[in-house]
Amino acid sequence: MNYITVDTGKESYPIYFEESFDSLSSAAEKCGCKGKKLCIISDSNVAPLYAEKVKSELEKVFSEVYVCTFTAGEKSKNLDTIKSFYDFLLEHKIDRKSVIAGLGGGVTGDMAGFAAATFMRGVDFIQIPTTLLSQVDSSVGGKVGVDYGPYKNTVGAFYQPKFVYINTSSLDTLPKREFSAGMAEVIKYGIIASEEFYDYIKGNKEKIKSGDKDCLENIIRKCCQMKADVVNLDANDTGIRETLNYGHTIGHSVEGLKEFELLHGECVALGMCAVMDISVKRGYISQDKLDEFVDLLKYFDLPTEVSGLDRENVYNQLFHDKKVSGNKLKFVIADKIGSTIRTSDVEKEEIMTAIDYILK
Ligand SMILES: NC(=O)c1ccc[n+]([C@@H]2O[C@H](COP(=O)([O-])OP(=O)(O)OC[C@H]3O[C@@H](n4cnc5c(N)ncnc54)[C@H](O)[C@@H]3O)[C@@H](O)[C@H]2O)c1
Ligand SMILES: [Zn+2]
Repeated sequence: MNYITVDTGKESYPIYFEESFDSLSSAAEKCGCKGKKLCIISDSNVAPLYAEKVKSELEKVFSEVYVCTFTAGEKSKNLDTIKSFYDFLLEHKIDRKSVIAGLGGGVTGDMAGFAAATFMRGVDFIQIPTTLLSQVDSSVGGKVGVDYGPYKNTVGAFYQPKFVYINTSSLDTLPKREFSAGMAEVIKYGIIASEEFYDYIKGNKEKIKSGDKDCLENIIRKCCQMKADVVNLDANDTGIRETLNYGHTIGHSVEGLKEFELLHGECVALGMCAVMDISVKRGYISQDKLDEFVDLLKYFDLPTEVSGLDRENVYNQLFHDKKVSGNKLKFVIADKIGSTIRTSDVEKEEIMTAIDYILK
């Protein structure tokens, strides 16, 4: 099987890359699941598509397999849904030696992981991400949790899975808009970590958009490797991991104001355009590079401008971000493609100009 290893120092686990669910049972067997009970947690969109196949594959290894579903969407990502999981787990006599798997996007993975981290003080956990965003981002790194009222990801834990199983073919059924949103995070990795990877995306954009399996596996694998490298260096999210938030500061602000209109990845695309403008104004990056970047986002049907927002509101919203410490805004800025600096030293004027760049 094709895999890379994530090593946090304390724990180490594989991320498998496959084009079907057929090797799930061998992955489970390798990590010592034989004879255990399993609860698969999935959402109301993904379960009808894949739960049966995944269940029958895993029944080859586990003694009993149950599927617990919830209503798809971020609105379900709360403690009420977690409580419904606990009820289901108790009803099906899932115990400390059992395993929980998350089959779905980031909402599913974050919640299944949180249930696994807390039920009986922690049971083994498996990630089976099915969106591009969850395959390149949320399934790697061990952050799990739920929203609390309007506060995103406020209740949670660090909890690593036993393994991550990525079936790139599951992207065939993903709505195009969700795929594009995931591409924003993919492009982000190029900007923060590797010009070579950025050039690869540019050079293969047609293949990526048309769903070419080899190309997709290649980019997903590279993103996982880049995230794993950062996470390995900084498992508790204190320093270098901040670079993964590239484009997220202004992105989150737009997301907060446009909550029901734009997807997270779309807001990240906007946020990246804004901070890239700071790089241009500071002379780190040429205007041509910024134009090329904007064109790449547009190619993947991502927004690069947003209407109906007020610049002061966008600015004020920046201070609601979880990552703001001591009222100081922290920015990750590209000093060239493939490299970033972290700084709190950005003037309000500079930020306003960046916001203006994305406001229609
Ligand atoms: N833990 C982390 O480090 C981390 C990082 C980034 C994002 N996140 C979290 O991830 C969540 C967003 O993840 P997401 O974008 O995957 O959202 P999601 O889980 O809501 O999935 C998006 C939509 O696609 C559907 N779907 C999923 N897979 C499908 C498939 N293969 N075919 C058809 N439909 C499919 C889902 O039902 C849903 O409607 C947010 O809650 C965010 O906070 C977590
Ligand atoms: Zn993100």
